[in-house]
Parts: sequence; structure tokens; C-alpha cells
Amino acid sequence: MGRQFFVGGNFKMNGNIKTIKDIVSNINNAKLDPNTEVVIAPPSLYLLLTREHLRKGIEVAAQNIFDKPSGAFTGEISADQLKDSGITWTILGHSERRTILEEKDDFVASKTKAALDAGLGVILCCGESLEQREAGDTVKVVTKQLKAVADKVKDWTKIVVAYEPIWAIGTGKVATTEQAQEVHAALRDWLKKEVSAEAAEKTRILYGGSVSEKNCAELAKQADIDGFLVGGASLKPAFADIINANQ
Ligand code: G3P
Repeated sequence: MGRQFFVGGNFKMNGNIKTIKDIVSNINNAKLDPNTEVVIAPPSLYLLLTREHLRKGIEVAAQNIFDKPSGAFTGEISADQLKDSGITWTILGHSERRTILEEKDDFVASKTKAALDAGLGVILCCGESLEQREAGDTVKVVTKQLKAVADKVKDWTKIVVAYEPIWAIGTGKVATTEQAQEVHAALRDWLKKEVSAEAAEKTRILYGGSVSEKNCAELAKQADIDGFLVGGASLKPAFADIINANQ
């Protein structure tokens, strides 16, 4: 298997200069598993501050980008500008942007292509609502979200997929290990059929949705869970325990 364990911290729209510096200082002083790849995503305003103070070896991600390199797109940030600033990753397609900002699959796909073309890594989010799960449509929903990307992107070597069931995000209702493993395995099967056997083998598939220091070890033991995308818990010192979950 040999996929490197990966933990992303999605701060969402949280923090200020002091608290972001405190979080970065906690991470800098924590004893972290050197075999875990770690990427943290502060709000855009704090990307440069985070990059400046964060320990080497941990990368910084934006939480979103626009799909054009420059121009009259008020309020947007481009992949080239992030690259120029030493920011090497971006999260894309987070369910909060798909629902609140009504981002469509095709827009997420063109942003993914723009990010990869600029040399950024992409944490590509997918996930279903409770209604869609209860209707038995989970795999159909998440593979449709990924298919839009596969239609534009053939090289998935710099894509990390994050499966985040919407009903588990911020609710404390973490998916069971069986629920998460089942969808991760379905996503890996889909990658094999729709992208390539190599992509299926090498692509890290993260679980996100109420991950905590209490539930991460059991989830990390699952064959197709290669790490986590962490929201609320990434703002706390216990984030280090989640980074070390695979030890
Ligand atoms: O992107 C990660 C996020 O959606 C999960 O949030 O707070 O449930 O860990 P949380």
C-alpha cells in the first residue's frame, strides 16, 4: 500500500493574529510523527503570517482559489499568487462552499485544474448530506463530484481526496469506522475504474467530519483511510494527537 499518512487542518473562518500565532506555536513545539504529512489551512488573511512562523516541513494551504490566473475578479485569489507566496496547497470543493456559496461541481473541477497547473497540491473535498445518505445515494453523490474533476484532470498525483459526510461536519456525530471505510473503499474502486489503477493505489483518501483525538486512532486503522481533514479540533493543542494517530 505505502500511502503516506496525511493530516490537514482546516481552520475555516476562525482565528485572529494572536490565536493563529498561538496555534502555530503549539504546532511548532509539538512532538509530531515525522512520517505524517501535515498541511494547515488558515483563513487567507493569515496565510503569509502562518507561512512565516510555521516550522519547516509543514505546508500551508489556502481554503479556496479562483480558477483564473489574474484579472478583474474582485475578492478572489489565484493559484499563481499563492505559489508566489510560498503557499503550496489549497482545499477545494469544501461542502460549506458547495452548499452556502452554491459552488457547482464543474467550477470545483476548473479550480482544481487551475491549482494543479500552477503547481499546487489540492485537497479535493466530497461528501453527501444526511438526506442523500438516507436515500442510499452516498456513493453516487461523491463519485459524481469527483467525476467532474476527472473530466478535466488526468494526473491525480497531486490530489488528495477528502471524504467529508456533511452530516458529520461540526456536529460531533463522527462516521463509524464501517461507514467511513465503506465510502473510502468505494472511492478507491471508482478511482481505479475512472482514473487509473495507479491513482487508486497512490491517492490518499482522508476522512473529515468531527475527527477528534478520541476517535482518530480507530479510524486510522481502516485500510482505505489515509488520514484526516480536521476542522474544529485543528484549532486545539489536541490536533497534535490526531497528527500522531497513525503511530
Ligand atoms: O474540512 C474539515 C471540516 O469540514 C471538518 O470539520 O469541525 O467536523 O472537524 P469538523
